[in-house]
Amino acid sequence: MNIPVITIDGPTASGKGTIAALVARALGDWHVLDSGALYRLTALACRRAGVSGDDPEQAARLARELDVCFGDGVWLDGEEVSEAIRQEAVGNLASRVAAYPAVREALLARQQAFRRVPGLVADGRDMGTVVFPDAQLKVFLVASAQARAERRYKQLLEKGISANIRDLLEDLQARDARDTGRQAAPLKPAHGARILDSSELSIEETVQQILTWYGNAG
Ligand code: C5P
Repeated sequence: MNIPVITIDGPTASGKGTIAALVARALGDWHVLDSGALYRLTALACRRAGVSGDDPEQAARLARELDVCFGDGVWLDGEEVSEAIRQEAVGNLASRVAAYPAVREALLARQQAFRRVPGLVADGRDMGTVVFPDAQLKVFLVASAQARAERRYKQLLEKGISANIRDLLEDLQARDARDTGRQAAPLKPAHGARILDSSELSIEETVQQILTWYGNAG
């Protein structure tokens, strides 16, 4: 059976997670894959095991052996880590270990297993290019670096975390450069992807555009 998939790829903080969850709900509670969380969990497992970001073999071993559970929050080795994986340091380490082909290979089948009825909305960097190349609709969601830094800044403030917008902007740009410049599954629009620039769009408008495209694509 060809279970439908919508992929939403794009750079850091382009709003993929929020949009994916809303699109999934609008389609009647489709499943959601936040693939970045798997890279973040691998990074967290590395930190906890004392494995550095320079050791692809050990990072891949930890990725293969990840004991994770998604449901009400994200769990690693029986511990709730939803907040811990969102730390900037974990995100940075995630983008380093994600550059290793062995780590990506170790997480591939785990990501594909999220494809279950009635359908899946998968967000990340290589959902349309590598993980679900046969997706019914592929979206490449972008927003200017300034718009993304401002959104992240607001999110952090809402959580009571102080931040500096210039540091956030530099961090985003460094991560964009690493994600687009790497050899393994670099961030780029998949063949046939629709490009959606959300810099000037509301969340509602962005979701609506994807649903309209899916209606036309389906
Ligand atoms: O999307 P998020 O910021 O949570 O992802 C963390 C890091 O994981 C990204 O910076 C990226 O390097 C990596 N990643 C990836 N491929 C994916 C999802 C995330 O390489 N499909």
